Amino acid sequence: MEDVLVLGIESSCDETAAAVVKNGRQVLSNVISSQIDIHTLYGGVVPEIASRKHIERINQVIEEALVQAGVTLEDIDVISVTYGPGLVGALLVGVGEAKAIAYAAKKPLVGVHHIEGHIAANYIEHPDLEPPFLCLVVSGGHTHLVRVMEYDKFEIIGCTHDDAAGEAFDKVARAIGLGYPGGPKIDKLAKEGNPHAIEFPRAKIAGAEFDFSFSGVKSAVLNYLNNCEMKKIEVNRADVAASFQQAVVDVLVGRAVAAAKKLGENRIAVAGGVAANSYLRSTMQAACDKENISLCYPSPIYCTDNAAMIAVQGYYDYICGKRSGLDLNAVPNLKIGQR
Ligand code: KG4
Ligand code: ZN
Repeated sequence: MEDVLVLGIESSCDETAAAVVKNGRQVLSNVISSQIDIHTLYGGVVPEIASRKHIERINQVIEEALVQAGVTLEDIDVISVTYGPGLVGALLVGVGEAKAIAYAAKKPLVGVHHIEGHIAANYIEHPDLEPPFLCLVVSGGHTHLVRVMEYDKFEIIGCTHDDAAGEAFDKVARAIGLGYPGGPKIDKLAKEGNPHAIEFPRAKIAGAEFDFSFSGVKSAVLNYLNNCEMKKIEVNRADVAASFQQAVVDVLVGRAVAAAKKLGENRIAVAGGVAANSYLRSTMQAACDKENISLCYPSPIYCTDNAAMIAVQGYYDYICGKRSGLDLNAVPNLKIGQR
């Protein structure tokens, strides 16, 4: 079969990104223009600012991705773009751009689901990884246990009933004064703290053994901080970070391993921004080793938002026959597996 070069475009939240990937596995370029500096000033992502920054940067980012890959638009076979879920104004920038390029260059267009992209990030550095496998998706907006049946077929085994894991990290980080984005900062500070200093709750959902809830642990941290303030007790922020992280990681690892055992899956992949968490990685590794389950996760750069993962899933969607029309629109609440 001839090589297939896919251009991936990602603009669903606060990273403007473009990448070129060969045959779904080989990353030729991966350009990410982060807006973190601007959003940090506001303590979180401001949707309107995100859209405006995307429109300023997207052309240069795509140009850079082509140059770094050593190709021109002529060489590209497929244009893939995130069309949901995400912030509608941010998504529209990438979708509009991808449609314009596909139309002008007469190339096929494939709309990609952002979370399916996160899952596909695992294919980049694990050449032997193929469906079926179980994937724990943990990002700023999503917490899902997904059974990847085929490259383009997914079954949801569990999901969060309220906050996503990354959202809880960000909110707790803000409460202890670490700022945005909180995940990496909690990860770092927790290394200096005692994970058993404070007992935060691990929520179970009655009748849904593989679902999650993180609003309880978040509220427990906020209550703990309020209580300390009222009683004028000095807060050990490292202990709070470590104990909170321990509570979240216990639940994520426990549910993922239990689901794998119940479903008879001997391979777990982890994906999404929170998959970059060092404590989650080491705890998951220890639990999987104990159960003889093989574990994989992407390098941190492919865990957080990037366009290489969109090009990878775009490749598999394309190979599986998916094509999007020039009427492709942004779908902010797109469901996993929705075609
Ligand atoms: O996947 P992602 O880049 O964007 C979404 O699709 O949501 O995930 C961003 C989330 C943020 O909540 C961020 O705090 C979290 O991933 N995150 C981390 C770490 N790095 C990023 N959470 C915990 N530990 C980390 N090292
Ligand atoms: Zn993401």
